[in-house]
Amino acid sequence: MSFDRKIKIAPSILSADFANFGAECEAIEAQGADWVHVDVMDGHFVPNITFGPSTCAAIRPHIKGVMDVHLMIAPVDPYIEAFAKAGADVITAHVEAGAHTHRTLQAIRDAGAKAGLALNPGTPAGEVEYLLDMVDLICVMAVNPGFGGQKFIRSQVEKVKQLRRMIGNRPIHIEIDGGVDPTTAPLVADAGADVLVAGSAVFKGGSVTNPAPYGDNIRAIRAAAEGVYA
Ligand code: DX5
Ligand code: ZN
Repeated sequence: MSFDRKIKIAPSILSADFANFGAECEAIEAQGADWVHVDVMDGHFVPNITFGPSTCAAIRPHIKGVMDVHLMIAPVDPYIEAFAKAGADVITAHVEAGAHTHRTLQAIRDAGAKAGLALNPGTPAGEVEYLLDMVDLICVMAVNPGFGGQKFIRSQVEKVKQLRRMIGNRPIHIEIDGGVDPTTAPLVADAGADVLVAGSAVFKGGSVTNPAPYGDNIRAIRAAAEGVYA
């Protein structure tokens, strides 16, 4: 996985057909997705349950590019190795998920994955200040995690700006997750985010048998983020 700050669109399979993950991953990549975002929820850290490492391992062969695994689980440490073995390229844990975030990030890197750290909307940017040497990606949640299709929380744009300043020249991605669509994408791209997660805004109107809308949706988000209004 090489580092750059170009805009990357990462569709969240939370909005995909759960009975067809393999085909859905292939469809979004064929339609221009840069990364595939995989939302793992435990019904404890967040009020929803999705799936675990075995599902990640099952979909891995259907993803050519980056598998970006967002763990909304607590505790997180006991499961890191399983998600790394499942083939995650990036493993993102929440700073709110436990008391020993530094140890968690170390464990992710030791397992051979890139280390991501997610911040809930109420968590200040400063939480990551002493962790910057340990992270490869910071995920700013623009919704309260748990469900797709929620409204973008605008205050998070300022948080992205603060993080962008804090990061300086370090090779750290800023990912924005929740409520990203062609109207919100330019705000976060201008603020400094380079990985744009989008669930409902990518999958709307399409299906595995009719994947062309996925491509239209991905292009619309990318064009908006890059400042080119189609
Ligand atoms: C939120 C998840 C997201 C989210 C994205 O709990 O982490 O990845 O579902 O979905 P949209 O783009 O529909 O807000
Ligand atoms: Zn997510």
